[in-house]
Amino acid sequence: MPTLRFFIAKLNPIRDLGAMAKLAPSVLAADFAQLGEEIKSTERAGVDMLHLDIMDGHFVPNISFGPGIVKTIGRQTDLFLDVHLMLSEPEKYFEPFAKAGGDAITFHIEVHSNPAPYARQIHALGLQAGISLNPDTPVDTVLPHLEHFEYLLVMSVFPGFGGQSFISSALDTIKAAREHIDAHGLKTQIMVDGGVDSTNATSVVKAGADILVMGTAFFKAENRAALVERVHRM
Ligand code: DX5
Ligand code: ZN
Repeated sequence: MPTLRFFIAKLNPIRDLGAMAKLAPSVLAADFAQLGEEIKSTERAGVDMLHLDIMDGHFVPNISFGPGIVKTIGRQTDLFLDVHLMLSEPEKYFEPFAKAGGDAITFHIEVHSNPAPYARQIHALGLQAGISLNPDTPVDTVLPHLEHFEYLLVMSVFPGFGGQSFISSALDTIKAAREHIDAHGLKTQIMVDGGVDSTNATSVVKAGADILVMGTAFFKAENRAALVERVHRM
């Protein structure tokens, strides 16, 4: 039986959790042979949401999983499901991932330079919307559109694979986005994705990130709950 906290977190993961930094494990790095147990472990560790990486072998040179696995994950947990679409035609899959139980859908500015109409499609399905940019995409391409999005997902690796090293130029992107969001009084939350671990998490949060996505660093951590606690204190 899900606890009240999970119901509240699902309805509003941000407001309920206050101003602390938040942690979203990337399930891509979980042990898929024991997926159910891995998902339960994220709950026990006290994570704030789950990050689900969807790859099409076209926008990125790798293939991961689809709506079927998202649905399976959703059956295991009431955690908020943040679906990161690394797809050339993400809009074709908004509805399947909404039906599969996604709570937020993020797509890339590199595939839709005028992203507002797509944010409206996601909102019409009752989900929150996110826009992402790759490490070599200028931050100015996303800033004018942030008012339409609940999340900005700053990539700190070139997407396609877990376990890569953090690209430190992402810190400048985070700082520029933080300044813009604060200057315009926007509610967009900054998520950072790729190579985030305990060696760089503090600088990522100091640069202005609200949510840290961690794949390898979370699932390989000796003490997952302690890692979540450390992030919550940042
Ligand atoms: C990269 C994915 C990331 C990645 C995170 O293509 O979008 O979410 O799997 O994993 P780590 O933390 O291992 O870089
Ligand atoms: Zn991701």
